[in-house]
Amino acid sequence: MGSGGRTDLDGGAVAPLTICVIGTGGFIGSHLCEKLMAETQQTVLAVDVYCDKIRHLVDPPPPHLAGRISFHRLNIKNDSRLEGLIKMADLTINLAAICMPADYNTRPLDTIYSNFIDALPVVRLGEQQASDPLLHVRGLRQDHRQLPPQGPPPPQGYLHLD
Ligand SMILES: NC(=O)c1ccc[n+]([C@@H]2O[C@H](COP(=O)([O-])OP(=O)(O)OC[C@H]3O[C@@H](n4cnc5c(N)ncnc54)[C@H](O)[C@@H]3O)[C@@H](O)[C@H]2O)c1
Repeated sequence: MGSGGRTDLDGGAVAPLTICVIGTGGFIGSHLCEKLMAETQQTVLAVDVYCDKIRHLVDPPPPHLAGRISFHRLNIKNDSRLEGLIKMADLTINLAAICMPADYNTRPLDTIYSNFIDALPVVRLGEQQASDPLLHVRGLRQDHRQLPPQGPPPPQGYLHLD
């Protein structure tokens, strides 16, 4: 997106959003933050239990990003600060999960809790803030090295997202 910012269908300027990105220290979250900072005017409330992958953006933010990104180290399972952050945001994107294939085998219960039970506070807070969207990202990743091939190859044009 250009530096001119977003416009509506009448050409009027659209105010930048405040986006709460949960799981921002992970693979998708860190790249999303970099993109949002580099290519948009949006503000990011970055939430995770660690921030190594986005340290260059938040510790401290470089001068040109001051006021546009802040890091909040918290566990979504049990931290009351989450409510204030979600209320402050126009949009919440929840990417927090245990989602490494190796963990599926070695930490199956943690994986299930992380993907479903631990995420419930975010879903409940999103429900209370019904006027602001919540994008709750879950995924199922297959470890192709461990699974035998199943069935015929997908038809042409079939897009498989895992
Ligand atoms: N990466 C992929 O290829 C892919 C594909 C499809 C779907 N997805 C889904 O997208 C989401 C994000 O994937 P990813 O690859 O970025 O994962 P990731 O493991 O790289 O990042 C997840 C982040 O969530 C954080 N987190 C986990 N539990 C937390 C908690 N209780 N409180 C706060 N932070 C917590 C972790 O610290 C980590 O930084 C997952 O739901 C995943 O299933 C990923």
